[in-house]
Amino acid sequence: MERVGATFLIAGVLTFLLGFFLQGVMPILTLRNVPVATVEEVANPVTPEFVDLAEEYPAEFERSFGKPTPASFAEALTLGRDLYVAEACWHCHSQFVRPVSNEDVRFGPVSTAEEYQNEMNLPHLFGTRRVGPDLIREAGKHSNDWQMAHLYDPRSVAPYSVMPGYAWYFEDDLRPKKEALALVAYLQWLGSWQR
Ligand code: HEC
Repeated sequence: MERVGATFLIAGVLTFLLGFFLQGVMPILTLRNVPVATVEEVANPVTPEFVDLAEEYPAEFERSFGKPTPASFAEALTLGRDLYVAEACWHCHSQFVRPVSNEDVRFGPVSTAEEYQNEMNLPHLFGTRRVGPDLIREAGKHSNDWQMAHLYDPRSVAPYSVMPGYAWYFEDDLRPKKEALALVAYLQWLGSWQR
């Protein structure tokens, strides 16, 4: 009886060690040398939508980011991503086009690992739920103005939307604050590398 117990104990410990090696140590050994692009690299060149934001909201843009340069774009992208995380947009939106169910017909090209090899995706924002559409190919799907109106009050442009409005990112006269500009810059960046 004692020998059976000992056998199970040893088998259990070995299985644990094997699992730890395969799922804990191996990924680190194989992935630690894969280069990760910095936000500054990702933000160069700037997207046409970011330049448009500077033209459409000149005073607000100037106050928030100055000119539409790679440096100010990097700042906007970082802030936009941070707000996306803070507001839990990822709770309702995925950022990953899967190779099943004809997703590419609806959202665009299937996602590849390379697209996530940058600091903008640390932590990754694949998401697990899709209350709203996938956003990894959002760039250029709508104009900046549409994105602003939608962010302020989704039902003003999508009447049956269940997405909440984010009115606190706008002034009383509805002009966008720095946060709204950053979020739209971020949304219009998602997938821009695929165009
Ligand atoms: C409660 C769930 C929910 C949350 C939270 C949420 N959304 Fe949405 N979102 C939706 C739904 C549902 C739609 C589809 C209807 C519509 O267009 O409003 C949508 C649509 C969108 C679209 C339009 C996509 C397209 O291509 O038509 C964008 C962009 C978007 N959301 C961004 C955001 C951002 C940014 C946040 C966080 C600040 C956010 N969402 C938070 C549910 C949500």
